[in-house]
Amino acid sequence: MPPVVPNAILNSGNQLEFYDDTEWVGGMYKLHDGIWDSAQEVTRNQFKIAKDNDVMIFSFYPTKPIGGCDGGMVVSNNRYIIENYRTMVNNGCTIGSSWNIEQKRVGYKMHGNSIQALIAYNNFKNLDQKNKILNEIRAEYNDKLNCANTSLHLYKIRVDNNKEFLQEMKYKGIQCGIHYGACHNNPIFRNRHKSGALPKSELEEKQTISIPFHENLTNKDVDKVIKNVKKLRKI
Ligand SMILES: Cc1ncc(COP(=O)(O)O)c(C=O)c1O
Repeated sequence: MPPVVPNAILNSGNQLEFYDDTEWVGGMYKLHDGIWDSAQEVTRNQFKIAKDNDVMIFSFYPTKPIGGCDGGMVVSNNRYIIENYRTMVNNGCTIGSSWNIEQKRVGYKMHGNSIQALIAYNNFKNLDQKNKILNEIRAEYNDKLNCANTSLHLYKIRVDNNKEFLQEMKYKGIQCGIHYGACHNNPIFRNRHKSGALPKSELEEKQTISIPFHENLTNKDVDKVIKNVKKLRKI
């Protein structure tokens, strides 16, 4: 889990509880009853999994499925909830021209701007094409690396020591990533949680590595990644 999530929970004045769940990484998960964190997934009709009045949150951070210039989106089938978010991010004011808005509550200035919206919107329009390419790359990786990954955001494999693997791949000119370090061991959380209490997350921190997975990879790039993973992977 990236620290951005617990940080946001604490910022909102809520309590944190860590779970040893790592299966969701690369997709969507339930952050809390009624709240779905879908920063890493955008698929057709995905709101069907939610209940009435739930909210689903999407991120437009540049590397996310719909990359943008930061910002994000909250969706729900409850108009009242959405209106509430709209006013909360608009200084507590209803939306409209400055002379006919009403301030309803104390809010924040957190709304996205037009440039952010334009970038995200254009990437949204390209999403099917991007996913088509990612599906092909994922199928090739699954076949050649003997995996069964399903995410369209991250392609993770298991190695015996991901820090060493990352470095060795870097020497070959291939940038990999680790998703994620065990969040509960960050300095700010250490005293709130006993280390070692979440063994699955701590194992992922050492063994999981994300190999290059984006729509600009050429066939040659994919072959190079596969060749080097096969050579360097020890598990
Ligand atoms: C699972 C998950 N939730 C939430 C976020 C936060 O998204 P943002 O960077 O748009 O605040 C991220 C992004 O890193 C994420 O990966």
